[in-house]
Amino acid sequence: MSAIYETDKLLAEYLLFHYGAAEEILPPERAWPAGMREALDFPLRTVACFSPGHAGRGLDLGCAVGRSTFEMARTCDSVTGIDFSHAFIRAAEALRLGEALTYERLDEASLRTPLSACAPAGITGERIRFLQGDAMHLPDGLGSFDRAHAANLLCRLPEPKRLLDRLPSLIRPGGELVLATPCTWLEEFTPRDHWPPRGTFDWLKSVLMPHFTLLRTSEEPFLIRETARKFQWTLSLVTVWRRERCGDAGTTLEDAAEH
Ligand SMILES: C[S@@+](CC[C@H](N)C(=O)[O-])C[C@H]1O[C@@H](n2cnc3c(N)ncnc32)[C@H](O)[C@@H]1O
Repeated sequence: MSAIYETDKLLAEYLLFHYGAAEEILPPERAWPAGMREALDFPLRTVACFSPGHAGRGLDLGCAVGRSTFEMARTCDSVTGIDFSHAFIRAAEALRLGEALTYERLDEASLRTPLSACAPAGITGERIRFLQGDAMHLPDGLGSFDRAHAANLLCRLPEPKRLLDRLPSLIRPGGELVLATPCTWLEEFTPRDHWPPRGTFDWLKSVLMPHFTLLRTSEEPFLIRETARKFQWTLSLVTVWRRERCGDAGTTLEDAAEH
């Protein structure tokens, strides 16, 4: 599996992406296009895709440095965040314990700005745990969950179908799944024979529909700052699913509209 998520460069980029203030990502002295500002706070927006209300156990797969895990804990009794990167999980765990993490934002060449990341206010770390692990080989004893979230993870897995096949047993009947993916399939992460055979959305429907009902879809932009003048602006396809009882066939949005 790719080791890029263990590097200091990616750690700093993700701390800024998840915890940076708007003015740290888009300093106000430049006139940024409105679309860039709208792409901030991605982890908050994908978590907001769950149906309103409170839930029991939450699972955040590919949680990186943990912002979406913290956000899920606002409405879940407990949340487990899992990521393959040791460096990301170490950072998330330090934040959970209340530490302020200092890191350097790359501006250009050797110019760097020291910044600090903290866990978001209003969430106690006691109901959260962060684990280093592989979303394709989750431990049997993990149990089942009322909410599962996996943002921008699928197209970073060597065998994404392994995770999709595990989801029905991870999510309790009536529970919800939020899957976000920019559909950025690259051989660097996923061998071509494990890419969706056609479009990602059709593939998700064909694999998940026997077990899940598709509740809604949306498009969520996100912004990762690489330097003062270079950003990744990407559009993630978000699908929200409800786990059906064993044996119930799932339905699509179109099916639901017909009834
Ligand atoms: C593109 S990042 C997305 C991170 C985060 N969910 C977000 O939206 O900002 C992909 C994440 O998946 C993690 N990852 C890659 N392979 C994984 C695996 N097999 N199991 C769990 N996490 C994995 C990476 O370490 C990285 O944190």
